[in-house]
Amino acid sequence: MATVEKEEKQMEKEDFVYVEQTKGVNGLDKVILREVRDFSAEVYLYGGHVTSWKNEHGEELLFVSNKAIFKPPKAIRGGIPICFPQFGPHGTLEQHGFARNRVWSIDNDAPPFSTNSTDKAFIDLILKPSDEDMKLWPHKYEFRLRITLAPGGDLKLTSRIRNMNTDGKPFTFTFAYHTYFAVTDISEVRVEGLETHDYLDNLRNRERFTEQGDAITFESEVDKVYLSTPTKIAILDHERKRTFVLRKDGLPDAVVWNPWDKKAKAMADFGDEEYKHMLCVEAACIEKPITLKPGEEWRGRQELSAVPSSYCSGQLDPETVLQSG
Ligand code: BG6
Repeated sequence: MATVEKEEKQMEKEDFVYVEQTKGVNGLDKVILREVRDFSAEVYLYGGHVTSWKNEHGEELLFVSNKAIFKPPKAIRGGIPICFPQFGPHGTLEQHGFARNRVWSIDNDAPPFSTNSTDKAFIDLILKPSDEDMKLWPHKYEFRLRITLAPGGDLKLTSRIRNMNTDGKPFTFTFAYHTYFAVTDISEVRVEGLETHDYLDNLRNRERFTEQGDAITFESEVDKVYLSTPTKIAILDHERKRTFVLRKDGLPDAVVWNPWDKKAKAMADFGDEEYKHMLCVEAACIEKPITLKPGEEWRGRQELSAVPSSYCSGQLDPETVLQSG
């Protein structure tokens, strides 16, 4: 490369904006993460919510409903809602907890995360309870969330939750990264890595069953909590020849959800036909809730990659996924 060209390339890199703070739908604060090879991601401070993850061709990899309501108190339908301090509808708290409909702050004083130093496109967010929140869930906590778009396009989320109670009391919570993957046609999608695992079926009173068969496919509504799953799960979009690989740490369970046609029609913020183009696979900690004493911290990590299916073939037979997990 000629020297001038080299210098120009260098300049381009130095000027490159990896993290941009801007406004999104309804004027809500939004952060755009960009990487040099045109990967991008978007994060709303409302919910600490990732709403977009695009590959180098500008193709959207996450599903967000056309009917999503970007307005508190409704959580954004799609992307990656954060379920905390509870997953599901149980107890006195609202369904999936309140973290997904609170406004998070940018955390400029985040204590060091042990991440790769080549990561430049990342944002640190923090959520702390308001006085109102303390009435709902009487605990002080600091929830730090780092969202990173890695140079190769992977999307990484790390949560660190610390008990800040000064009354000596522990607290207990469940958690999920409620990821909505964009798929071309749900009837052509396969999930690998969960076969032979036990699950609680939310459509049958949370009764426990064992998954059979080779891989999971979809022909009707599904709402299952797979228990003690491997750290790697693959979602194969046959029609697009794309495979999502979900890697997780500290999150033993995995929820698989698709509302199918009837539930889709019943949801005000979801299109009647949109169930065909999404699948939720959620890295979670549900069966065995986490308890933290004051001063203790929990960490839960999820990493998403999107790769051409051909690249993965051979790595994705269930046995290999299980072993390498
Ligand atoms: C899934 C649950 O994780 O989220 C389902 O397993 C639930 O039971 C779905 O219907 C959507 O929940 P919400 O509160 O976002 O409508």
